[in-house]
Amino acid sequence: MKLTRRQIIAAGAGAGTYLSLGAATSGLASVNEPITKAIPGTNERLPVIGIGTNRWVTGGNPDEKAALRNTLKTFQRMGGRVIDTAPAYRTSEQALGQLIAELKFDDAFFLATKVDREEKRAGIERMQDSLTKLNRASMDLMQVHNLRGAQVQLENMVEWRASGRIRYLGITTSRNDQHAELEALMNELPIDFIQVNYSLAERAAEERILPLAEEKGIAVLANIPLARGRLFRATANIKLPGWATEFDCRSWGQFFLKYVVSQSGVTCTIPGMTRVAHAEDNMGANFGRLPDADLRKRQEQLIANL
Ligand SMILES: NC(=O)c1ccc[n+]([C@@H]2O[C@H](COP(=O)([O-])OP(=O)(O)OC[C@H]3O[C@@H](n4cnc5c(N)ncnc54)[C@H](OP(=O)(O)O)[C@@H]3O)[C@@H](O)[C@H]2O)c1
Repeated sequence: MKLTRRQIIAAGAGAGTYLSLGAATSGLASVNEPITKAIPGTNERLPVIGIGTNRWVTGGNPDEKAALRNTLKTFQRMGGRVIDTAPAYRTSEQALGQLIAELKFDDAFFLATKVDREEKRAGIERMQDSLTKLNRASMDLMQVHNLRGAQVQLENMVEWRASGRIRYLGITTSRNDQHAELEALMNELPIDFIQVNYSLAERAAEERILPLAEEKGIAVLANIPLARGRLFRATANIKLPGWATEFDCRSWGQFFLKYVVSQSGVTCTIPGMTRVAHAEDNMGANFGRLPDADLRKRQEQLIANL
């Protein structure tokens, strides 16, 4: 998907600068196309900025639903594809299923959901329910939520993958104290994707998890990339450094997200966003250059000195 010059300016990306810079980083096909990375071992590429929907909870309030509809439209218009949800996120799957149907975005997204059951039968029912709520005959990615019942649920998923009801299977955590168990499962089981917490505020995954994912050819979705908003609060009174323009970064949101996706082991990140303004800002990180090793060090130092 190519964006027009106008759309890039709308993203706050500064088209004049972009169009003269050229693609400095692998994965940048051209300056007005989203940055993509390949799912290891395949020819399938994903834009590096996705969306997390753990707060996509709608009651009866039409304003809430309109805000999510406009956020989804903005995400899609700016080249977003990967959407992460879960049955545990209350009305998230249902809201997404309805909005995707209303907006006729049927084939626009790479949809990832999760299963959070111990027992085989209960896991199958949970996955079936997700397909129903999301109006899908099959799911792009099914993940074991927080490693729960991993062995049994991955057996289910291998069967579902063989029969075409899911394309990729994976496991998730967002807690450092589960990294050792995650690592053991990555070594033991046939996993296509993992999801792990990684951000400028939480870098533990760099030690063992991300190198292992690269070694084994496992795709990585980085979750909680904004430290649940903590990074914005920590930088609220600080001016974005001038050197951020060296990687085409114009906001703190882009600063945090470009750090995450410039890590070689990370395939895509899924910032939580429920507002159009946040989607516009974050999707700007899907374009232009990414920080190199020196710039990443400067980013780390800036956050460490706060
Ligand atoms: N174990 C698991 O599998 C697991 C665990 C945790 C999370 N996850 C996944 O990871 C996703 C992301 O995690 P998260 O949403 O908890 O944390 P996050 O992405 O680190 O932070 C989201 C918070 O940042 C705010 N925000 C987003 N963009 C912003 C911007 N440009 N400027 C200012 N504020 C901004 C959001 O506000 P608004 O909502 O107001 O836009 C929200 O409050 C989840 O949605 C979920 O899909 C998975």
